[in-house]
Amino acid sequence: MKVLCFGSLNIDYTYKVDHFVKKGETLSSDGLEVFSGGKGLNQSIALSRAGAETYHAGAIGEDGRFLLAQLADSGVNTDCVAVLPDMQSGHAIIQNDREGDNCILLYGGANQAVTKSQVDKVLERFQEGDFLVLQNEINELAYIMECAGRKGLKIVLNPSPMNEKILGLPLERVDYFMLNQVEAVQILGEEAVEKLDGEGLVEALRKRFPRAAIVLTMGGAGSIYMDEKETIRQQAYPVQAVDTTAAGDTFTGFFIGGLLRGLEHKAAMDEASKAAAISVTRQGAAPSIPLLKEVEG
Ligand code: RIB
Repeated sequence: MKVLCFGSLNIDYTYKVDHFVKKGETLSSDGLEVFSGGKGLNQSIALSRAGAETYHAGAIGEDGRFLLAQLADSGVNTDCVAVLPDMQSGHAIIQNDREGDNCILLYGGANQAVTKSQVDKVLERFQEGDFLVLQNEINELAYIMECAGRKGLKIVLNPSPMNEKILGLPLERVDYFMLNQVEAVQILGEEAVEKLDGEGLVEALRKRFPRAAIVLTMGGAGSIYMDEKETIRQQAYPVQAVDTTAAGDTFTGFFIGGLLRGLEHKAAMDEASKAAAISVTRQGAAPSIPLLKEVEG
């Protein structure tokens, strides 16, 4: 079984700031670093580092070739990434404050230039039982989900960043939702108002999408896994955060990567939680994702 992550590749410009810039304010940053990022690329690297045979599909411009090198160095197959000569790669402008929190401004660029014919070609390489991991930073998501669902791929959706496009997707095709509380509330809408605690949200999502397993991440409050057979409550590993960018991507990649390596859900949740904790102690997106031996050690 292999895993295809069809998702974004971004150049991350990370600015160290005292606080997030406010409306009308001009703020000098304390430093700039350029990292590989994009929720798709980060999750591919985490999947591969967690031991899964990983393929990344997406699109970049010529300026993003170093992103391919970063994926390949982490063991990810990049044959399905299109290099579009007339486009700029996607990028993110990230403010990273003194508490280690971030806020992100995205420019989609080539990430929004995925075509149906690219999707058809990529999916030819995958079979029933293979996993497909998606986020919300590329176009043609509905088409990818319909085609992959018809082929019997297991669909993992991380609906991040959350917006109204997610509600228009064929969500009944999803096998695993990997999401946080804000995303869960937005998917459930009205129904969520009375059920704002984690367990209530997970139950409501299970009711709405009965064939899907739900993984809800709650930051320092841990995470919950629920399917038709079991509920697992996972504690977060407390650490001093330096930069939380890509913590969720690391969690998703290690959880699914762990399952593909044969771990039970409980062990995969624990490993994902440890990996995410390590990632927030380091700067940047992709470079902060740990190796499996660091997570197991
Ligand atoms: O999840 C973190 C990622 O979000 C960053 O790497 C940035 O590129 C944005 O896509």
